[in-house]
Amino acid sequence: MSDYTEEINRRRTFAIISHPDAGKTTLTEKFLLYGGAINLAGSVKGKATARHAVSDWMEIEKERGISVTSSVLQFEYDGYCINILDTPGHQDFSEDTYRTLMAADSAVMVIDASKGVEAQTRKLFKVCVMRKIPIFTFINKLDRDANDTFDLLDDIEKELGIATCPLNWPIGSGKEFRGVYDREKECVISYSDTEKGTKEGTATEIPLKEEELLREAIGGGAADKLLEELELLDGAGAVFDLDEVQAGRLTPVCFGSALTNFGVEIFLKHFLNMTTTPLPRKSDIGLIEPASHDFSAFVFKIQANMNKAHRDRIAFMRICSGRFDAQMEVRHVQGGRVMRLSQPQQIMADERKILSEAYAGDIIGVFDPGIFSIGDTLCGPKEKFRYEGIPTFAPEHFARVRQLDTMKRKQFVKGIEQIAQEGAIQIFQEFNTGLEEIIVGVVGVLQFDVLKYRLENEYNVEIRLDNLPYEHIRWIENKDEIDIARLSGTSDMKKVKDMKGNPLLLFVNSWSIGMTIERNKELILTEFSKN
Ligand code: G4P
Repeated sequence: MSDYTEEINRRRTFAIISHPDAGKTTLTEKFLLYGGAINLAGSVKGKATARHAVSDWMEIEKERGISVTSSVLQFEYDGYCINILDTPGHQDFSEDTYRTLMAADSAVMVIDASKGVEAQTRKLFKVCVMRKIPIFTFINKLDRDANDTFDLLDDIEKELGIATCPLNWPIGSGKEFRGVYDREKECVISYSDTEKGTKEGTATEIPLKEEELLREAIGGGAADKLLEELELLDGAGAVFDLDEVQAGRLTPVCFGSALTNFGVEIFLKHFLNMTTTPLPRKSDIGLIEPASHDFSAFVFKIQANMNKAHRDRIAFMRICSGRFDAQMEVRHVQGGRVMRLSQPQQIMADERKILSEAYAGDIIGVFDPGIFSIGDTLCGPKEKFRYEGIPTFAPEHFARVRQLDTMKRKQFVKGIEQIAQEGAIQIFQEFNTGLEEIIVGVVGVLQFDVLKYRLENEYNVEIRLDNLPYEHIRWIENKDEIDIARLSGTSDMKKVKDMKGNPLLLFVNSWSIGMTIERNKELILTEFSKN
């Protein structure tokens, strides 16, 4: 056992996912509140400031036309060192949102109790399911009128295909919200919003057995309904099983109200108890265990223009094993060289803090002079293994892109290739022709604006984007066995290739995908590329 095992084992690294407005920011603030001090570059304290700092950073990004970043918050709570990866709740989220999930060991899903599962939750959720990481659900805004509790759980099970296990059960909602029943403690925790903005701890607990007290506290009607619902739940709900949770097949669910700070600390406690320590990661030499291997990390995000004054890039990496020390030499495997990482820092909200050390589970940002790519591995100077690449996620919007001034072809190609290398867009070419026509694919349409803005401002190239009707892209898994030229799909199908020459198919709708598979029985299509 290494001397840093303890440091690693107390780390919990998770992403928070939700549809915009479900309450992710509010819940995060409350988590930070329990942590006491908010370690936003070690200086910011208090929830108001935290919110301010985070949203300010987003404003700056919007102003500069850069896709909204994910930030990392680190705080201590109850002996744990917690890293929260914030996946921006922006409508036009980008591939970075997906990639951030690749750096997390588990996910917290926030759902608005009056809305249920929404489109964005569904997309992000798919990535969590693919990675088989544990998912914890917080159903928020019980202080407002909510959907029926059974319906909410049904919705999660049907929409997301994961079993649910409520840890507590809400009693009413909105004006009638009386509190929650804690299934483990077998008591009712009555709701009070007088604790707004402060820590929990003073809520009244009434054992279910004390029926008279219970009726007095929450009212006879509410008590009857609760008893009835609990009976139903005991008969129908999934049984709690930690192994199932850790395999990502069962999500524990808590109900509460982040705004009024009800049910948040209990959720955090349950979550920390059940979630996992930094997970081992797959590499080409097998699984790398976080505590029994020296330093290693992989790059999951590259952010350009972090500093207005310089055209700098920051590579974000997730430490997967061992201890990082700012003085140490590391090998950049894909780049084939041994180096010291320049200006290692923790990037939180709009602040940066220079780091001297970090451990498996932590996220660090390093200055990138243009050498790193998404998915690159860093490890000890004597090692050479590679972590499994980060998949390329299917873009959903496509456009043909042309430079307006034909004399600027060189800058145009250079710019678009660099921006693609950072992972901000994906570029494709017609399958049969040369580089002439470039097709850009993005996950969120905001990325088109980012591309236009950056090409104009950084490369001095004006472009025209013509939207294409395609909405689906599929990689061909068995490309070596398929004669792409002779492949017959639907009339609206388009054959393209990515920059590595891999063939792909673009479709206008899912019906066309089905028809194409039907017509080419041997064809195996995938929704993301493992690189
Ligand atoms: P997001 O990060 O998921 O996008 O959501 P955020 O926390 O910003 O919350 C969105 C809105 O919902 C905010 O109101 C917030 O105050 C409110 N909210 C969050 N949790 C609860 C809750 O438990 N109960 C109720 N009633 N409201 C909640 P806003 O008016 O848009 O912003 P603000 O002016 O309050 O900051």
